[in-house]
Amino acid sequence: MLMKEQNDLLTRVGPGTPGGDLLRRYWQPVALSEELPPGSAPVPLTILGEELALFRDEQGRPGLLGLHCSHRGADLSYGRIEDGGLRCLYHGWLYDVEGRCLEQPGEPAGSTFHERIKHPAYPCHEQAGIVFAYLGPGEPPLFPNYGFLNAPEANVFVTKYWHDCNYLQGNEGNIDPVHLSFLHRFLREEGVFDRGNGRPVGTNVSSNELFGRDIAPTLEVEATDFGVRIFALRDAGDGTRYVRVSNFIYPNLSAFPGGGQGDGYGVNWHVPVDDEHHWKFNITFSRTSPVGKERMRQGHAAEVGPDYHIRRSKANRYLQDREEMQTRSFIGMGPFFAAHDRFAVEGPGPIQDREQEHSGSTDKAIVMARLQLLKGIADLREGRDPPHVIRTPEANRLGHVGAVDVVVPNEEDWRTVWRRYLPVDEPVGARV
Ligand code: FES
Ligand SMILES: [Fe+2]
Repeated sequence: MLMKEQNDLLTRVGPGTPGGDLLRRYWQPVALSEELPPGSAPVPLTILGEELALFRDEQGRPGLLGLHCSHRGADLSYGRIEDGGLRCLYHGWLYDVEGRCLEQPGEPAGSTFHERIKHPAYPCHEQAGIVFAYLGPGEPPLFPNYGFLNAPEANVFVTKYWHDCNYLQGNEGNIDPVHLSFLHRFLREEGVFDRGNGRPVGTNVSSNELFGRDIAPTLEVEATDFGVRIFALRDAGDGTRYVRVSNFIYPNLSAFPGGGQGDGYGVNWHVPVDDEHHWKFNITFSRTSPVGKERMRQGHAAEVGPDYHIRRSKANRYLQDREEMQTRSFIGMGPFFAAHDRFAVEGPGPIQDREQEHSGSTDKAIVMARLQLLKGIADLREGRDPPHVIRTPEANRLGHVGAVDVVVPNEEDWRTVWRRYLPVDEPVGARV
């Protein structure tokens, strides 16, 4: 449960809000590279309540500018890409990726007025098929050295999904391992769709079967320098334990096991559009082998429109099939995990009223993450960098960030088993 004041702090993200200021201190995904191929039109975007135009200049550099021209406000996303920048259609002012006004062709020859214009512009960084931007003040932090953003191109699949709700309830779904025994459960092994079929390390039994064998896992959490490491411990039978390790990564992403046999994992990064909508950027990667992008693209095409909206939505009651609930799945909403999650996190409404909730013992990762976020807001108020803002190469050793699921004998130490599967650098930062 959160008091209304705390809930507002965490969920309001527009310019000048404490929660929005916090998220602006980190590099954030703003678009997929595939939305901005060379020579393409600029893309209008809203991120953290700000209207923006994303474009790629003739040199291929992404630029993120305020949507409205500094002259008299025309929409720059319709502009021309030429002469080293983005040119407004109304009177031809030309901006480069840094927001410098290079030309004002309608002003008298020799005018230096253009030199005094600084159009809103945010630094961009493109990696792993995603355009990231830093929307905060001052010097951007180092770009985080996450394993999932450094894998070879063939080993990473990235996409995004629209959500009609606040970003926080989206991310809280990722750090709640209990729902896997319910929301994503297929009733019988022969009814398991493709996605539920991954096998954790050390077993031939599917994760779906293991989620069904023990629906009441023990949840343990530990604070780390990057956020929270979460352990869901389930009885796997025959003296073994199913250990599922996931992460809350500060401030708005999570890593979770993806059936990658210890070789990779999934990441969801929840970027606010405004207080009541967000994009979930989804990253699937493997350290050592291609992820089968074509098969993944085909799987998505059935479930997700070209506008990155999942076809199952509140407007069509998520196409729930009551017959399927008898024969195949717990919820009757097909095979696609992202659709199940969309249903779950949009259910509370545009911004969850957390005064009305009743957190149980298995919500303790969510509770810890919220306290860490509130601490970050307090840090900012007191003039300090919030947690996991990376300023030094030593703090950017992030091999210990990541997820794995594994079945081990009961006598094995579940707290340390993840170290076998991640390229661990010892964390140097203080715990949040
Ligand atoms: S409004 Fe853009 S150049 Fe005049
Ligand atoms: Fe889920």
